[in-house]
Amino acid sequence: MSRETILKKFEPSLDNILYILHELQDNNVQHYISKEDLKTCAEYLNLPYSYVHGVATFYTMFSLKPRGQHIIRLCDSPPCHLMGSASLLDYLKKKLNIEIGETTADSLFTLELSSCLGICGVAPAMMINDEMFGNLTPEKVDAILEERRKSR
Ligand code: FES
Repeated sequence: MSRETILKKFEPSLDNILYILHELQDNNVQHYISKEDLKTCAEYLNLPYSYVHGVATFYTMFSLKPRGQHIIRLCDSPPCHLMGSASLLDYLKKKLNIEIGETTADSLFTLELSSCLGICGVAPAMMINDEMFGNLTPEKVDAILEERRKSR
């Protein structure tokens, strides 16, 4: 979908800035908002580029750099910590051979941290793109990542 098609879905109002940025990001196969996206959004909303850039960098759900096909967001809030998310983070970093905020060499996975995902009852938890996973163990993480690799 072109940027223009996305913009036409919204009134050119500041109230719509987050919706527009979300759509622009979702429309990008690399799950990020490019400089051209920011520029187009700023022009459409008649705002300074710096303002739109500031909004996009304030919210952690937006990325200004290309990401992998599957974005892993491991919950980093206290209930998940208590249930072992720190050791799962170490496990994921080692398994994927990346640090937080990085993308695997095959562009398949990006590893990020998230605040509470709202499923503390099944901590430790993570989200991959729009799907939630709980009661995680290294074995369960292995199975989930393998499934994602196969669905490539
Ligand atoms: S603290 Fe991890 S899902 Fe709520």
